[in-house]
Amino acid sequence: MKEDNLHRERILILDFGSQYTQLIARRVRESKVYCEIVTYSIKIDEIKQFKPRGIILSGGPKSVYDSDAPLISREIFELGIPVLGICYGMQLITHLLGGRVARAREREYGFANLKILDNEDIFSFIMEDEIPVWMSHGDRIEKLPNEFKSIAKTSNSPYAAIKSKGKNIFGVQFHPEVYHTPQGKEIIKAFLYKVCGLKGLWDMHSFIERSIVDIKKIVRDKKVLCALSGGVDSSVAAVLINKAIGKNLFCIFVDNGLLRKNEAKHVERCFRDNFNINLKVVDAKKVFLQRLKGVIDPERKRKIIGHTFIEVFEEEAKKIGKVDFLAQGTLYPDVIESVSFKGPSAVIKSHHNVGGLPEKMKLKLLEPLRELFKDEVREVGRQLGITDDIILRQPFPGPGLAVRILGEVTEEKIKILQDVDEIVEEEMKKSGYYWKVWQSFPVLLPIKTVGVMGDERTYDNVVALRIVDSMDGMTADWVRLPYDILAEISRRVINEVKGVNRVVYDISSKPPSTIEWE
Ligand code: XMP
Repeated sequence: MKEDNLHRERILILDFGSQYTQLIARRVRESKVYCEIVTYSIKIDEIKQFKPRGIILSGGPKSVYDSDAPLISREIFELGIPVLGICYGMQLITHLLGGRVARAREREYGFANLKILDNEDIFSFIMEDEIPVWMSHGDRIEKLPNEFKSIAKTSNSPYAAIKSKGKNIFGVQFHPEVYHTPQGKEIIKAFLYKVCGLKGLWDMHSFIERSIVDIKKIVRDKKVLCALSGGVDSSVAAVLINKAIGKNLFCIFVDNGLLRKNEAKHVERCFRDNFNINLKVVDAKKVFLQRLKGVIDPERKRKIIGHTFIEVFEEEAKKIGKVDFLAQGTLYPDVIESVSFKGPSAVIKSHHNVGGLPEKMKLKLLEPLRELFKDEVREVGRQLGITDDIILRQPFPGPGLAVRILGEVTEEKIKILQDVDEIVEEEMKKSGYYWKVWQSFPVLLPIKTVGVMGDERTYDNVVALRIVDSMDGMTADWVRLPYDILAEISRRVINEVKGVNRVVYDISSKPPSTIEWE
């Protein structure tokens, strides 16, 4: 736990399993206050050690009267630290301090009109008497604990927000952290600034300065290795570390032949030419293609690519001599998932990472972005001078085009898909949709269909377009892209890419379908 100015004001968020817990943390960070998410079962002593200036209790799927309800010790209210309970968090405050919570006649879900009774404390920054808020709860408060009063109500609930008369303890039945509560950010900000008395010391400029000092101190004159992928996270990590230790950072970019068109050149230009980073681009196309020959099973493809990557990377790393650290672009959401009350996502995602490298090579990890959310990483990147074409990039899977070429991967198919991909990207960017969606890419199908071009019959490949919206890749929905954009993509692909005579649109959501086709 750091004691510097940047981390001096900190908020602790206790996670009771809500799907929105990370959003609470993001709203707190947006208000320029450092915060961490911990499991609800944290010990009181550990809370004290953390020295939070405020505590937020998240929502959660349980009822406080369930036999396996996640509870906390009442001592938390005796620490003299302001507390804000959100949804389940508020019910927990009520339950623990002697009020009564009961199942509501109907589950309340969706918008509600909040009538504010008291424009003070957590409502200090709200000028209106009524605001829309987002509700999602099955339980309601029937009786307030002594010493509490209602500070806002809805037509459904007289206790939509509550406050203790003596202590700085607040509860809200609605979710201020979600986008559907348009003024929610102001409520969280008021809790931080007005109730907890914070100033907002967390900002990315200070973060960068602080990180550079830290990295220098940790690494000293040792060497750091970094697998640059061209994605946002590893790029920002590399530029940041480069700023701290310069030539002792050794970046390796493995061109596995399964990348987007001109990707290797692009990365080289960006990092070597613009940032003067020690970068080795390894052309390993041949070995990857050779090993993928005849392989159809998606899992085998992924494994082969993962193993081959490690092999090539290790081989290259040996040439550098003794290295002590491996830099990784790990972000805060990856860190929380492993401690969260319920984090099934950690399991689902594990197949995406090329694990095992640090243990195998006996390297210590250097993860300068561990405390940050994605939007903070982008801000750091911008401040470091990385251009938007890297910072605002859509995610790209490690196994690359291999999982977008169904069936056997061949050089010819890669070339076709790269050409189609280039057109899709161009058109998405031209329309502005590239930056509005989570991912937009083509998939090359293992079937041929009949077409007609001029007077000739064709028998060529089919391409599917996958364009999805998502918050984090865990769930997704297909984008209702305007027909004109779809029409232009289709027209260009069929006219310009030899070997493709049909384009189809994927209209499946995740779940049950996945984003990538393999
Ligand atoms: P799926 O296909 O599982 O994808 O719905 C969810 C998100 O993860 C990306 N993805 C990967 N990323 N290595 C990665 O680094 C992988 O093996 C991999 N597979 C899928 C995918 O592009 C989407 O954003």
